[in-house]
Amino acid sequence: MKMPGTEAKYTGQNLIKVKPDSGLMFTIITGAQFGDEGKGKIVDLLAKDYDIVARFQGGNNAGHTVRVGDEVYKLHLIPSGILLDARVLIGPGVVLNPEVLAEEAEMFEKHGIKVDSEKLGVDAKTSIIMPYHIELDGLREAARETKIGTTRRGIGYAYIDKVARDEIRMAELADRERFLKRLEELAPQKEKEIEAMGGDPKIVRDPVLIERYLELGKKFAAYITDVSREINQALDDGKNVMAEAAQGTHLDVIHGTQKFVTSSSTIAGSACANLGVGPTRVDSVIAIVKAYITRVGEGPLPTELTGELGERIQKAGGEFGTTTGRGRRCGWFDLPLLKKAIALNGYTEISLTKLDVLTGLDTIRICVGYKYKGESLDYPPELTEDLGDCSPVYEDLPGWKSDLTEVKAYGELPENARNYVRRLEELMKVPVNYISVGPGRAQTFKKE
Ligand code: GDP
Ligand code: IMO
Ligand code: MG
Repeated sequence: MKMPGTEAKYTGQNLIKVKPDSGLMFTIITGAQFGDEGKGKIVDLLAKDYDIVARFQGGNNAGHTVRVGDEVYKLHLIPSGILLDARVLIGPGVVLNPEVLAEEAEMFEKHGIKVDSEKLGVDAKTSIIMPYHIELDGLREAARETKIGTTRRGIGYAYIDKVARDEIRMAELADRERFLKRLEELAPQKEKEIEAMGGDPKIVRDPVLIERYLELGKKFAAYITDVSREINQALDDGKNVMAEAAQGTHLDVIHGTQKFVTSSSTIAGSACANLGVGPTRVDSVIAIVKAYITRVGEGPLPTELTGELGERIQKAGGEFGTTTGRGRRCGWFDLPLLKKAIALNGYTEISLTKLDVLTGLDTIRICVGYKYKGESLDYPPELTEDLGDCSPVYEDLPGWKSDLTEVKAYGELPENARNYVRRLEELMKVPVNYISVGPGRAQTFKKE
């Protein structure tokens, strides 16, 4: 049995105490901001200590970049633990495009990583993203007066069908007769919807696409499993399980900045609900937090930097979407949003990423509160519209000049970088366990 160390425990004053090591190792990892915090990198780093890594929501709207040596892997669907020994699972709360799964599996096979049914399991009840979901997503987004800026991957429409109980599940995709029967039942409604939105309804019963889907269903039939059962069994056997989120806290469909959110619940509690694991089994909840903030797509971002500085951070951080290539909007660290993320997720630890990106700035700003209609706020208002009317109140810290990407230990950081991390930790009141200073595996160290 592999057991992660207990080094993440924090004994400093004024900070939330980490749960004592219970021997029960169910860890949930979520993004604490608007996605792209570096979840893929940190999951890859930590996965060596886990027997199972499971994705619990979202679909191929996600883009997780994992860099190992000179190789760069861009993952959309397969959990980022794939490169280690862990078994990787795709839970029933995920919406799965089988073509994307096939592409990713093939990419790994090319790199000599076998993605067979021993390595990867997909829940029988995972919803399938159909070509008509992608069509509907595109049509709806084009028609919206106020755009969301979706990834146009059919995510929202696949989740609509899940909730409406009109989805096609993985087990059905793998069974020719059941798949065709289900499609026959759903097709007239889908065709009507597409037609009403000005699209071409032929996509619903396109024979080439149907045959391709059936082929993929056959290919992945052997991978079908009961994810909840597997995870609970693994925990009973004393194994270590990690739940990996996609997107970020403020893109959560319930608690995020609606309507500029994704269509699934992205917060820690969602891991339990979506994977079918009781909350009493959770051992730790790790936040992935970027040292500044980014957002791709529409929606408020109070600390957004629109000028030269924003472009500089975007360039230095390579802030361009893994999935759509769109430029990510960049801003200063937003404490009120982070406080809300801590409340929503109950984080026990924080992994702080992309500290290196801030190198060279004379001053680094932390948004410690907002001004809203003459009032001072230290927590985001509940409504998106009101968040859009908040202006940030900053605390300024001196920057640092020396490159961080070769730094191997906390003590080697320039003093001002350490002060920045310490100040963030003090404000967040949750211990920072890891600090990341570059995209590579080796460019990470423990805080203490
Ligand atoms: P995810 O969606 O949360 O997995 O994040 P993405 O992979 O979409 O975006 C994070 C990007 O930053 C990727 O290109 C990573 O390779 C890169 N990255 C991760 N951590 C660091 C870091 O500490 N420093 C720098 N410079 N890049 C990083
Ligand atoms: P990872 O896992 C950042 C954003 C989209 C859009 C909104 C809704 O890489 O952090 P959707 O296609 O989900 O209906 O789009 O959500 N979005 C992401 N932003 N990172 C992601 O994933 C995202 N997945 C969706 O840009 O604003
Ligand atoms: Mg991403």
